[in-house]
Amino acid sequence: MSVNTSKPNIKLSVADTVEEAIKNFAGSLELNAKVSIYARNSFKIGVSGGSLIKALAEDILPKVRTDFSKWKIFFCDERMVPYDHPESTFGVYKKLLLGKFPGLTEESFVPVNTSLPVEEAAKDYEQTIRSHFPYEFKDPLPPGQAHWPRFDSLLLGLGPDGHTCSLFPDHPLLKERSLWVAPIKDSPKPPPERVTITFPVIHKARNIILYLIGAGKADIIKRILVDCERLPGFYINATEPNCNVEWYLDAEAGKLIPRNEPILKEWGSEIEAFTSCTPLWNNDNERDIAY
Ligand code: 6PG
Repeated sequence: MSVNTSKPNIKLSVADTVEEAIKNFAGSLELNAKVSIYARNSFKIGVSGGSLIKALAEDILPKVRTDFSKWKIFFCDERMVPYDHPESTFGVYKKLLLGKFPGLTEESFVPVNTSLPVEEAAKDYEQTIRSHFPYEFKDPLPPGQAHWPRFDSLLLGLGPDGHTCSLFPDHPLLKERSLWVAPIKDSPKPPPERVTITFPVIHKARNIILYLIGAGKADIIKRILVDCERLPGFYINATEPNCNVEWYLDAEAGKLIPRNEPILKEWGSEIEAFTSCTPLWNNDNERDIAY
């Protein structure tokens, strides 16, 4: 796959089966971990909740050959409930992952302090993330520029309304351009109170991998990748050169994507960016990003 230096490498992989899609996703995750650990002796990853949790624990991570002791697992978003609550993303990850993968311990996780009020929890989590991503350059930041974390990988989902993390359609948070972590008190997806990373953080990631499996994802994928509806998922992208944005689907999730050129050269194989969606990244004003 050609690596262009100005834009991210956007990739759509539509596997014939769920098993193949999971293998593809695991392969990308393993490679990202290998490169990050080689380069920085650590793998700083942001994970989402929802169906990804069980898939990671049961299907994906067992296929990933890595040194889990080098992993640091952050949360792209978190519900403001106690860790032992069934809706706690950290709580479910802990329950499903701890003790299953040598090297992965409770210290591997960097949870949100959900005992705080949501506004404070967002500020506290941003400071926590800042401590893991210090500004490492000796010179002060140039005027007008901000320091952003660069996650090695962000594992994102896509809700039926096109939300990702806890960034929901038509929500003011979509325009947040200075906070790394923001509070939300009116999430349309319960529970209502959450904290979420913001789009600038998503856009600064080295790799973004989306896990989209099953017929239930087909409609929203079509709305975003084919119809180019400006839903939050439409703006899942990377602003740094040579970053990878990879959508991993099975055939059911991809069944509403036309099979004709130029979107898919052939099913079941990885293809270059879906050219029908060049509006996804056709010019700077589309990026609507000013950090
Ligand atoms: C959350 C998730 C959320 C999720 C999407 C997709 O905590 O609610 O972070 O953003 O990724 O809602 O969820 P499914 O994969 O379960 O459809």
